[in-house]
Amino acid sequence: MTDPAETTRPIGVYDSGVGGLSVLRAIRCQIPHESLIYVADTAHVPYGEKSRHTVVARALAMTEYFVSRRVKAIAIPCNTATAAAVATLRERYPDLPIIGIEPAVKPAAQLTRSGVIGVLATTGTLNSARFRALVQREAPAARILHRPCPEWVLAVENGDVSGPKAQELVQAPVRELLDQGADVLVLGCTHFPFLHDAIRACAGPAIPILETGPAVARQLERKLGLHGLARPSGEGGCEFVTSGDPRVLQRIASQLLQIPITASALPARYR
Ligand code: DGL
Repeated sequence: MTDPAETTRPIGVYDSGVGGLSVLRAIRCQIPHESLIYVADTAHVPYGEKSRHTVVARALAMTEYFVSRRVKAIAIPCNTATAAAVATLRERYPDLPIIGIEPAVKPAAQLTRSGVIGVLATTGTLNSARFRALVQREAPAARILHRPCPEWVLAVENGDVSGPKAQELVQAPVRELLDQGADVLVLGCTHFPFLHDAIRACAGPAIPILETGPAVARQLERKLGLHGLARPSGEGGCEFVTSGDPRVLQRIASQLLQIPITASALPARYR
């Protein structure tokens, strides 16, 4: 049986920046008793335009940091980092539960009537072998339209998620996918749910817009249960850490989560 003290250890959660906060919200709702450490690797955002080698190196640095903090599990609410690095991390840390994220291609394949699915994600995710395998497995008969949107990542990092600027930003990519027949949109990057309202305004009310935050939160809960690591009661919370400027994370994360947060700097050796 697991020592109950083990269950009070924190869970490490990281993304290239603030995108993973869209999943953190779901995690906090699903497992409110858990303590979380969220790292925004802002000094290296965007991951989506970096080489696989760089994204793997950052994943290893993040994991070393989390291990130094004695986490009991890691969640990677970053499609790009999951695609590039989750297999390597699981190989190197076989005893640590590691939960990744992938674009909602499976539910999209069930929902589409036109057989055309629009996937908005990063270049890194869309070009990955993991994404190709996902499409082949879950939507072999569908036509998948890809649209990398690195500028959306940067807009969310700046907190530009609403108003005319956000509307204008999402207009061309969303129209491009819909004009080619997509009748479902997959948000395959965790930054994009923060642009949901702008995307909805552009796509209209009938187009499903899929994200995977709640599914990741449920999967994390399941994995903790399987390993006997779930914390059944007590006060949960979240510590925020960044490889960038803590004042910027404080401002943007407070805006996106709509609660005041404080942030600290990631120790230099992990930056
Ligand atoms: N939010 C991340 C994702 O889900 C990465 C975005 C980026 O840094 O390019 O892919």
